[in-house]
Amino acid sequence: MSDKKRVLSCIQPTGDMHFGNYFGAVQNWVNLQDKYECVYGVVDYHAMTMPYNPKKLIENTWELIYNLISVGIKEENLFVQSLVPEHTELCWIFNNYASMGRVENMTQFKDKSQQSSEGKSGFISVGLFDYPVLQAADILIYKADYVPVGDDQKQHLELTREIANRFNNQVGKEYFVLPETLFSDTPKIKSTADPAKKMSKSAGEKHNISVFAEDARIMKQIKSAVTDTGDADPEVMSDGVKNLFELLRAAGSTEIHAQLMSDYKSQTLKYSELKQSVGEALVTLSTQFKNKKAEITEDKREVKYRIKQSSEHIRKIAQETLKEVKDLAGLMNVKY
Ligand code: TRP
Repeated sequence: MSDKKRVLSCIQPTGDMHFGNYFGAVQNWVNLQDKYECVYGVVDYHAMTMPYNPKKLIENTWELIYNLISVGIKEENLFVQSLVPEHTELCWIFNNYASMGRVENMTQFKDKSQQSSEGKSGFISVGLFDYPVLQAADILIYKADYVPVGDDQKQHLELTREIANRFNNQVGKEYFVLPETLFSDTPKIKSTADPAKKMSKSAGEKHNISVFAEDARIMKQIKSAVTDTGDADPEVMSDGVKNLFELLRAAGSTEIHAQLMSDYKSQTLKYSELKQSVGEALVTLSTQFKNKKAEITEDKREVKYRIKQSSEHIRKIAQETLKEVKDLAGLMNVKY
């Protein structure tokens, strides 16, 4: 292993990838690969914590892997959580280092259990409650230095550090590195149909734009983006227009961005021009992604094989950590 600092992050396998996911997180993951040793997981065990369909789960897991590779994540940095079962064993150990009161206070649990109880079955699983402890295992099993996540995961990172601390105190040494959150100034992309909302899959079709959508569809969604209502104050940029500028900048069209921004300031900007530029920038990116995806999915068996290999390789780190943890925690290891 290199002496670079290690970055770890994980993502749940939920269907398609939209520009909100890409600009908000995945693009940053791609860039971090130049500077750090990166380990990225597709966390299928986490995806079981809400009512789910087994056939869909494995489909979504592979689909997400193809998507991640297509947008620039290196295969050798990717693993599937269920191919590294040590995560769940470490989770069990950590259950005994996690405070009940603290886990009960996690806002993601409160939000999701509410969603669940309002759902068809009203069923809330123990897995959903334990979710953040498994997340702590994901992070600490690789002794990650940095975890790039959004604001919504701050609390889970805090819990992870608490678990690490409690373990370190118990065993009387600084065994676990306390991982730090890597905050990056990633753009928070809004729905083009309703700029008051985040771009998201759950809000419905018109509230997200897939990075793999057909060119014409991307253009159409951008062309119909909400800009401002007629009576808006011209001195204050509306959320919709801000969002279009944000998309343009995120897509790397910095010169056009500067040009159109100065047009906006001199009140000569035509929104049709702004939309045309945003649409073209997104289509250019999307074309690269679609080409790459077509290339790699030509032989899915080959990709699956390589991802199982990279998972197996990454698993070695996890096995090493788990062995040490079991020794420290007074448990037995199979091998001598
Ligand atoms: N909980 C994270 C999310 O909802 C996903 C996740 C699971 C994760 N395990 C992780 C993120 C470990 C970072 C590190 O986005």
